[in-house]
Formats: sequence, C-alpha cells, structure tokens
Amino acid sequence: VATSVDGFIARTDHTFDCFPMEGAHVDDYLETLKAYDTVVMGRRTYEVGLRAGVSDPYPWMDTWVFSRTLGSSPSPRVRVVAEDPTLTVRRLEEGDGGPIYLCGGGALASSLFAAGLVDSVWVKLNPMVLGDGVPFAPGLRAQPRLTLTGTERYDSGVVLLRYDVG
Ligand SMILES: NC(=O)c1ccc[n+]([C@@H]2O[C@H](COP(=O)([O-])OP(=O)(O)OC[C@H]3O[C@@H](n4cnc5c(N)ncnc54)[C@H](OP(=O)(O)O)[C@@H]3O)[C@@H](O)[C@H]2O)c1
Repeated sequence: VATSVDGFIARTDHTFDCFPMEGAHVDDYLETLKAYDTVVMGRRTYEVGLRAGVSDPYPWMDTWVFSRTLGSSPSPRVRVVAEDPTLTVRRLEEGDGGPIYLCGGGALASSLFAAGLVDSVWVKLNPMVLGDGVPFAPGLRAQPRLTLTGTERYDSGVVLLRYDVG
C-alpha cells in the first residue's frame, strides 16, 4: 500500500493520485503481483477502478470484493461478497495455500488485522505529507507489532518497507 509520511493512503475524497503511479517502485510492485493468484479488497478500493471503467483490475487473480451495498458484480470474474470478510479469508487460506494479496489498506485491512489474518505488510512510503485523509488502518485497536524484513530506496524518494506481522 502507498502511504504518505503521515500515514494516509488516500485523500478524504478517496482519491490517491497524489502518489506517483509510475517509476521503478511501480515496476517492482507490478512484478511482485505476478506471484499472487488471489486478491481481496474492500468496496471503496474496488470502486477506484470501477470509476475508471475497470471492473476486473487483476484479471489473472481470483478476485473477491467485500461489500454489503454493491449488490451484483459488475464483472463475471469478480465475486462480490456480503458476508464477514474474515470468514471468506479463512476459507481461502484453507484452500490451496497460495498467497493472498490484500489490495490497499483502510477499513477492510483493519478488520483483517483485528482478526489476525494479515501476515505481512508492504508499505510504499511516499515523500509527502497529506495532513488528512484515509488512514492506513482506521479504528484498529489491536496495535499489531511488525518486524522489518526488508527495505528498498528509490530515486523518486519512495521507500518500500517490508514487514512481517508479529
Ligand atoms: N494508497 C494505496 O496504495 C491504495 C490502494 C488501494 C486503495 N486505496 C484507497 O484506500 C481507500 C480505502 O478506503 P476505505 O478504508 O474506506 O475502504 P475499503 O477498505 O477499500 O472498503 C471499505 C468497504 O468494504 C466493505 N466491507 C465489507 N465488510 C467489511 C468489513 N468487515 N470491514 C471493513 N469493510 C468492509 C464495506 O463496503 P459496503 O459499504 O459496500 O458494505 C466498506 O465500506 C480508498 O479510498 C482507496 O481509494 C489506496
């Protein structure tokens, strides 16, 4: 997830084009995504693509969108699920054992953190201060401890921080 130095992942209006969408860190990110065959995301994250006319943002991954309001899926490949996301994610984990990509941070990430279902966190720390916006993990009370497992510094000023949870 891309964040500002003050821990916001999007502006208050849910846009996040303030974070550079090209450059070496994006190339690395896109390369990393090839290792995943399942992605989960909250409705607001999914809507970023929808607003741009993209209903299947990760066509090579099984895609699960959590929403109690979206209703039917705009794409035959994307599953919109109204049940508690922790139930779905636990079931997915019991599946073939492949890694699951949690797209973005925000409300869904907070729920999955609280349930102990996040194993690692990759933060793209952007050299900017937003002052306000959508926090990385809104309302999370669990305060999970993270162990730094890697860093990458890019010429753009973006720093990739990799953590394991626990
Ligand atoms: N900086 C980055 O790298 C990055 C990447 C991706 C996205 N983003 C941005 O991050 C922001 C995240 O916003 P957000 O935190 O409001 O949204 P979010 O986590 O993407 O979506 C929240 C929605 O997910 C649904 N949901 C279903 N069950 C849930 C549960 N147990 N816990 C939480 N959500 C549940 C709800 O949809 P219903 O209301 O329909 O029930 C809820 O309103 C968006 O603005 C997105 O644009 C940033």
